[in-house]
Amino acid sequence: MNLSATLDDLYQRHLTSTTRAQWDYHDLLPWERGRNFQTEAWALGQGSLTPALTIAVETALLTEINLPWFTAGLKEMFASGPLALKAFIKTWTAEEDQHSRILDVYLSLSRNGDPVRRAQLRKHVLTEGYEIEGQSGFAVMVYTTLQELATRVFYQNLANAVNDLDRALSRILRAMAKDETLHFAFYRDAVKAYLDDDPGRLETVCEIIPRFRMPGATMPDFAARMRLIAENGGYGAEEYLTEVLDPLLRAWDVWDRDVPARVGDSRRALEIYRTRLDRIVRRRQGKEA
Ligand SMILES: [Fe+2]
Ligand SMILES: [Fe+2]
Repeated sequence: MNLSATLDDLYQRHLTSTTRAQWDYHDLLPWERGRNFQTEAWALGQGSLTPALTIAVETALLTEINLPWFTAGLKEMFASGPLALKAFIKTWTAEEDQHSRILDVYLSLSRNGDPVRRAQLRKHVLTEGYEIEGQSGFAVMVYTTLQELATRVFYQNLANAVNDLDRALSRILRAMAKDETLHFAFYRDAVKAYLDDDPGRLETVCEIIPRFRMPGATMPDFAARMRLIAENGGYGAEEYLTEVLDPLLRAWDVWDRDVPARVGDSRRALEIYRTRLDRIVRRRQGKEA
């Protein structure tokens, strides 16, 4: 099957599974907790979550809020690409649109976190804008695969971490994680189809992976937020290595794929990067033990 027919199939598969996984934010939000901020001002201690878990949810919101920038970047990058990719971005945008909205409304209804501060942060992040990583449509797809899987793992683990404190939030995060799983599956298999079409493209995979960071660097205290999430929200270097990077390297057959000689150097550099990451994770595990 040629590349464009494979992408058409992947898009049709996505439409089928996304219809099955369909959810609406009005069904999942705990409306019964809503109180008027004008008559009852926000104060610390009104919410259901710990401060660290509140920051984890707020960080997810501030990442998702960048959707207009993600869509703009993807539209530009796929402008000359296959029709299936163009159609996918539209469906994907409609699905992602619920993510920041549901988290924002949840945080307000549940009185987790200062709503005034959150409004300032939202505006700050959107005003800063976000430039998508990657110089080509294919490079962007590689980056986006990592991002979709990373958010899936983050939401799933955060859902587990908040489960005893707030069931409604846990359900919301699981619904979002399901969407991210489907987005991830589309991009993972699209990248694989591109690699099967031209194994030389593995060079781009090897270049993009070591540069991967969760989007959000424009949010204040980003590094401190990531540390808090690693300690309390169940998503850090270890989860990135074992639940994001390694499964992807296997899915794309990165180590065993027959590639042109020029790709060999890039692949060795990627191997060094992975070994270094593995060493960092083991050192941290040693300290915790
Ligand atoms: Fe999302
Ligand atoms: Fe997604």
